[in-house]
Amino acid sequence: MASSRPGRAAHRFRAAAVCTPGLEPVCADELRALGCRPKRAGPGLLEFGATARQLYSANVWLRTASRVIVRIATFRATDFAHLQEHGAKVDWKQWVPEGYAPRFRISSNNSKLYHTKAIAQRLHQIGLPPSIGEPEQLFIVRIERNTVTISVDSSGPALHKRPWRTELGEAPLRTTMAAAVVLLSGWDTETPLVDPFCGSGVVGIEAALLAGRMPPGGEREFAFHRWPVFEPGSWASVIGGIEAAAERAGGDPGAGPTRLIRLSDRDREVVAMAERNAERAGVADRIEFDARVVSHLKGSAGPGMVITNPPYGKRLGRRELSGLYGRLGAVTRQRLPGFGLTVLTSDAKLARAADDRLRSAARFRHGGLAVEVFQRPPIADGAEVETGVASSQGSDTAAGSATGPAAR
Ligand SMILES: C[S@@+](CC[C@H](N)C(=O)[O-])C[C@H]1O[C@@H](n2cnc3c(N)ncnc32)[C@H](O)[C@@H]1O
Repeated sequence: MASSRPGRAAHRFRAAAVCTPGLEPVCADELRALGCRPKRAGPGLLEFGATARQLYSANVWLRTASRVIVRIATFRATDFAHLQEHGAKVDWKQWVPEGYAPRFRISSNNSKLYHTKAIAQRLHQIGLPPSIGEPEQLFIVRIERNTVTISVDSSGPALHKRPWRTELGEAPLRTTMAAAVVLLSGWDTETPLVDPFCGSGVVGIEAALLAGRMPPGGEREFAFHRWPVFEPGSWASVIGGIEAAAERAGGDPGAGPTRLIRLSDRDREVVAMAERNAERAGVADRIEFDARVVSHLKGSAGPGMVITNPPYGKRLGRRELSGLYGRLGAVTRQRLPGFGLTVLTSDAKLARAADDRLRSAARFRHGGLAVEVFQRPPIADGAEVETGVASSQGSDTAAGSATGPAAR
């Protein structure tokens, strides 16, 4: 709940970051880096006390959260009269700008009030303007065992909707998940990163933004900018922090000195998409793009990190997939000695086909499937002698396309 003293920017917020269930530990690390003390309050929900600056910073800097909300009321309600009585005590004007209407997103579990449309109607009846399309301010109402919690959304469009991501390949990974995979990999941001199944480039672009200490969503607007309780001074200090971070990263945002990140895919068209996405994100000059199959991956000595999301699911047959993962593992060992390996896939056996030293680092759901991040750090002793990637693991130069035409 926000409290304020006259004449002073003294808001404290009961904030919470919303993330994909399973990614709470990595999102909590991000919050701690912002000086917050997160506490897991449920699946995909991390509560933290925040100043205005921390609330704004969380929206700007969290790479793995999809939204940041602020709790504004908690009460018990077993019927509509209770709901309206307590709802009327909320100071809605603090959060809903002139000309905006509240929109309620409601969920109910094990509670007497469960009809979400009727709950929204009753909340509007306490004197709030009706929701008639844009512009709207989102409120999230959770009812759990008759306890109603109302939170106001501070983000606006979900944080995973990065403005640069206008082109998608097949089976695209959500940006926040890609960022989580990069963070979980333990990549140090200074050594090479290789994604040989890059699709539309999300892993490499999130990595480049991280390495450049650039905010994941660029210069976007947030819902809190329109709040009557918005603090311009706190926002100015967040902007100052963005500029300082870019300077620490060694130049203007996007002005990376080297192309540390190498993205490739067998599908020429998705590689071109990845390049355009990277240009919009302002990181194209940090990335090398290449249309090639994994068997033809360019080699270099470690340390470094392969971070990738190979095909999985039912599009390819079991044997074909197993062969593809085997080639990924063999190519990594032979051509990228001293590199670590991080793989996001739905199948532990496939991950083991790439490398039996991979260990599970996180598990979450993506596109209706349970997926897992498997990881092993760089190996200091370097090259392992192995020959004949294509011959021992089958070849992907002609067959094996999951999603499009093969690169020549
Ligand atoms: C799951 S998708 C990656 C999606 C990507 N993370 C994104 O968000 O856009 C797998 C990618 O592997 C590519 N691919 C399939 N077989 C390949 C091979 N043998 N060599 C290189 N790329 C391959 C496909 O073209 C596809 O873009």
